[in-house]
Amino acid sequence: MAEADPRHTHQLDQQQEIDVAALHEPILRELRDPQDGHEPIPMFMLMLFAGLIFWGGYYLAAYSGGFRSDVLNPDPAAQFAGGSAAPKVVDPLVLGEKLFKANCVSCHQASGQGVPGQYPPLAGSEWVLGPDYRLKRILLKGLEGPVSVKGATYNGNMPAFEAKFNDEKLAAVLSFIRHGWENGAPPVSPESAAATRAAVKDRGQPWKAEELLALEKDDLATPAEGAPAPEGAKTEPAAKTEAGKTP
Ligand code: HEC
Repeated sequence: MAEADPRHTHQLDQQQEIDVAALHEPILRELRDPQDGHEPIPMFMLMLFAGLIFWGGYYLAAYSGGFRSDVLNPDPAAQFAGGSAAPKVVDPLVLGEKLFKANCVSCHQASGQGVPGQYPPLAGSEWVLGPDYRLKRILLKGLEGPVSVKGATYNGNMPAFEAKFNDEKLAAVLSFIRHGWENGAPPVSPESAAATRAAVKDRGQPWKAEELLALEKDDLATPAEGAPAPEGAKTEPAAKTEAGKTP
């Protein structure tokens, strides 16, 4: 068959046998060029991904928190008590500091030192550290006239915050000023703030320092119950409660 091809007779040695099959053998031995897209997935990859998916499912089941939107709420009890209870979880001191910065620093300063001759200090003040019933009243109704704080006399006008602060905020800001600047007095509870607010609700004008100094305890009798004499009744309130409570 090789003889039949004239080209071959020409170029090749007479003796040389041309085996076409042998000549093509290397070519046939070649595998087809691999094509993309149809390789079987290696077993270890299958196992790896199966493992990952399984682990993912387990992780989701274990840590999804039941897919609740409020899962990051720091107070789980509040979730079940209804949405309105949620704001209660705020730390009073954090809230108090915020309120203080927004409402008090302009006069009493962030340092709590006040402004000499104008605004009395809150840091180390006997009014802040002393009985909270005076403090609550100052915040609710304000204070005017001469007042002695840490040995210095001031005569200005402390605004009333009765309308601005609810009981929670009032308690928070008072707890903050009693705690801050190493004051270290015990906090004031919202319930206590509410009780005092109710007791003094009918009073229209700010307190005078002497009135508050005459007050010996947290007189929670509402003025309507006793004699309606909010002014000039400096020593009476204590007697009034006693009279109101014994029967
Ligand atoms: C507009 C300025 C002003 C602002 C704002 C103000 N105060 Fe006062 N505060 C005064 C003045 C003035 C006095 C002294 C009143 C007097 O002379 O009778 C005073 C007195 C006080 C006192 C009693 C005296 C003392 O130094 O301990 C307390 C407590 C107090 N303020 C707390 C607060 C708190 C808390 C806030 C913020 C919620 C606040 N004040 C906001 C001006 C201010």
